[in-house]
Amino acid sequence: MILKKPIIQYFIITMVLLCFGVNITLATKPSAKLINGETWLDTKGRPINAHGGGILFHKGKYYWFGEIKTGKTWRVQGQKWECYRTNAGGVCCYSSKNLKDWKFEKIALSPNMTDSTSDLHFSRVLERPKVIYNQKIRKFVMWLHVDSEDYSYARAGVAVSNSPEGPYEYIKSFRPNENMSRDMTLFKDADEKAYLIYSSENNATMYICMLSDDYLQPTTTYKRVFINQFREAPAVFKLKNRYYMISSGCTGWAANKAMLAVSDSMLGDWKMRYNPCKGEKSEITFGAQSTYILPLCKKKNQFVFMADKWNKTDLPNSKYLWLPIVIKNDSIHIPWQNNFTTK
Ligand code: GAL
Repeated sequence: MILKKPIIQYFIITMVLLCFGVNITLATKPSAKLINGETWLDTKGRPINAHGGGILFHKGKYYWFGEIKTGKTWRVQGQKWECYRTNAGGVCCYSSKNLKDWKFEKIALSPNMTDSTSDLHFSRVLERPKVIYNQKIRKFVMWLHVDSEDYSYARAGVAVSNSPEGPYEYIKSFRPNENMSRDMTLFKDADEKAYLIYSSENNATMYICMLSDDYLQPTTTYKRVFINQFREAPAVFKLKNRYYMISSGCTGWAANKAMLAVSDSMLGDWKMRYNPCKGEKSEITFGAQSTYILPLCKKKNQFVFMADKWNKTDLPNSKYLWLPIVIKNDSIHIPWQNNFTTK
């Protein structure tokens, strides 16, 4: 009886509003539709800010880490190339169980706002964060590209946390075996060995370096691959005991052709094969650049190609493209798809 009155009131108000042509939407949750190349919203309806990112799967949840880009974009003077920059905003973490609804967790690695000598100072470059779990030390380990404004510092930084979403405690940065390290990714193999893969020698050659057992340091075991081929933005996956790497060419923020390479082992003989993208604009990776390849947790041998569609003069307004990789016998392709969906 007590309930009846509000229900009747609601009914009357609804009818009146409908008579006036008002569209009543009770849902406040933003649409979880992820349209490739358009703004993606988190569960609170705010644009997702996770560029150059990677995903960790842990205990039934995906954790998406990426560069926080905010504020104005400017061009660094005195560089021959189009060195557009924003202040380094640190690394954020979003979580999701279905890869569609992304909840902002926290700033996983905060920038340093006061000490200009810190690797994490906002005036630096913090790019392409990736996280893996180390069984031995029971910690989550993040590696990222740490650089100076003009990209001459060329180092890889490492941070750790007890929980996947952070906060991560920054340890230090390296030039692994005294070699430059810029665009990078991580790959953890089934035998728990992990590798840091990075553009070195002024981006001319890709390096694959085995990490120490705790994943906190580079070891002296490494391999130079794609020598003098100027590859960037590496992303690695493993399929039926073979290793695949998709990388971009080296044209700054401008999109170029992706290439797929294959090897029988991580430190093996990598062979560059072909451009895996298919469809309109496949010659320029659909206007985007690789960042990570995500194995789908419940689906064996299914992967998602994750890429950034950079907006060089307004970097925080850069967008994402996620495309399922289509694998048929020996052919591996990435066809264009308007929305990100997995079957
Ligand atoms: C790209 C690289 C990005 C960023 C940019 C700077 O080639 O993949 O992560 O470093 O250059 O221009």
